[in-house]
Amino acid sequence: MQTVNRLDLLRNSVSTFRRNGETIALVPTMGALHEGHLTLVREAKARADRVAVSIFVNPTQFGPNEDLDAYPRQLAEDSALLVAEGVDLLWAPDAQTMYPEGYATSITVAGVSENFCGASRPGHFDGVATVVCKLFNQVAPDIACFGEKDWQQLAVIRRMARDLDLNAPNADRIIGIPTVREADGLAMSSRNRFLSPASREAAAALPRAMRDAIQTIEVGAEIAPVLARLHDAILAAGFASIDYAALADAASLQPMENRVEAPARLLVAARIDGTRLIDNMAVYPPAGMNR
Ligand code: PAJ
Repeated sequence: MQTVNRLDLLRNSVSTFRRNGETIALVPTMGALHEGHLTLVREAKARADRVAVSIFVNPTQFGPNEDLDAYPRQLAEDSALLVAEGVDLLWAPDAQTMYPEGYATSITVAGVSENFCGASRPGHFDGVATVVCKLFNQVAPDIACFGEKDWQQLAVIRRMARDLDLNAPNADRIIGIPTVREADGLAMSSRNRFLSPASREAAAALPRAMRDAIQTIEVGAEIAPVLARLHDAILAAGFASIDYAALADAASLQPMENRVEAPARLLVAARIDGTRLIDNMAVYPPAGMNR
């Protein structure tokens, strides 16, 4: 695996792959890699000749009171994991390389980025869209893999790629990979390590409560009371607060309040033990109704 931290060196490596007629898949990450990230890497490897992984803890997607400084950084460990997966190229720029003196541009994706994490983390998706657009332009991959774990992020990136006619990759080549979970159902996240053993155990109630809610909605129950019960169940499990627990159209991320008429997502962000966890799951319209 080649590790590069300068744009000219990245471009040399990419050009070498291209000269050999090889396709490239990009997996953007912020490091602190776990099985979720490594699953994206494996999916990328199955879909392209070469896999490039980026590790960059992007400051512009963290709010002033968020965990930028506490975000785990472990390049040596991450690098060993990526070597073991057969990754070809690790792009690990520093903040100065990504945002040099005088940097002034930002991308805002309206609509899809406004609710949910966009509302509880102002500016977050501008930071994500901008850095992902830069990573796309830097690596110019044929495809890029993202986790469904961050469903709204995936929707924002697809919308951006469509709206800006991005070509490397184009919107259809932005691949969403299903959420990888721990044995007890908790979605894997770099932030799970911040939980005490008791909170870690309690956190598994979140996906369980979400599954229960979805089962009820899919047999035709009214949405509002189900969401109210979901709220109660999450708090009863030991979560301190809930940023949102809502149902939305899977593509537009517009809230669905009355009935499920199209593929939807149940999306939750909640805090436990000082850590904000997010999760989301598919919800389908009740059989024979609303189709
Ligand atoms: P990060 O949180 O490191 O996640 C990198 C990628 O791994 C994202 O596409 C995310 O959705 C995916 N991922 C994380 N946990 C997952 C899980 N349990 N199952 C499946 N996929 C999972 O998301 C970011 O970084 C950043 O916002 C980034 C896109 C790199 C831009 O800075």
